[in-house]
Amino acid sequence: MAARKPFVGGNWKMNLHTAEAHALARSVATSCDGREVDVAIFPAFPYLAEVGTVLQGQPQPGVMLGAQDVYHQSNGAFTGEVSVTMLQDLNVTVVLAGHSERRHVLGESDLLVNAKVRAALKAGLEVILCIGETLEQREAGQTDAVNAAQLCYGLAGVDPAQMSRVTIAYEPVWAIGTGRTATPQDAQDAHKAARGMLGHLFGATIAEATRIQYGGSVKAANAAELFAQPDIDGGLIGGASLKAEEFIGIVEAASNATVKG
Ligand code: PGA
Repeated sequence: MAARKPFVGGNWKMNLHTAEAHALARSVATSCDGREVDVAIFPAFPYLAEVGTVLQGQPQPGVMLGAQDVYHQSNGAFTGEVSVTMLQDLNVTVVLAGHSERRHVLGESDLLVNAKVRAALKAGLEVILCIGETLEQREAGQTDAVNAAQLCYGLAGVDPAQMSRVTIAYEPVWAIGTGRTATPQDAQDAHKAARGMLGHLFGATIAEATRIQYGGSVKAANAAELFAQPDIDGGLIGGASLKAEEFIGIVEAASNATVKG
């Protein structure tokens, strides 16, 4: 059975401008080289080219360039949207789909998230599909049901052979940007249930091989405890990815975690 190499993503969201993005990308690229962990950074669209140049300029480019979103149509009259091939032109290799800010702030439906997942996979990109419950849903005992539904909708029509390019990010909405992290046990329970759902959808072998990141107020100080859980395979990091030292500390915690699967 394939081992699950830890994977850490830095989601910069709508932050940083040229000079800061350049400097942060350079620090991450030079510090994360050669570690036993996959690393991706997700700048805002206008800085993908700049950050891509920094990453490509490293002696051994190891940090992947990611986009925070993508549109599923290949071209045409879709004002403001960015296609898969445009991202590939800039050497983007991984995209986020269904981040909770896109679902809850911008109103993206499961149907749209699924269209994006399928379009990105069809073009050969890697995808991080984000799932997670709101506070109300958690308090109503619906955490696993919400995650299961988002997995079913998000991955509908995905070919089992494409699953090697899919990572799941479990990000409880109430933990994102709030400083309130899920306990390692709560996160582990949700990850285990999500992996169970992947088993129903794609079978045990694929479920065991699929990486599930945790996201929601991860910092260098709490990363090791979270990443030590048997079903947590790294993290998707927001706020703490904007500070080189914090992010590198989190990557280090992931590289020290035991390989799972
Ligand atoms: P946070 O964001 O680390 O700031 O909580 C995580 C995310 O939204 O991916």
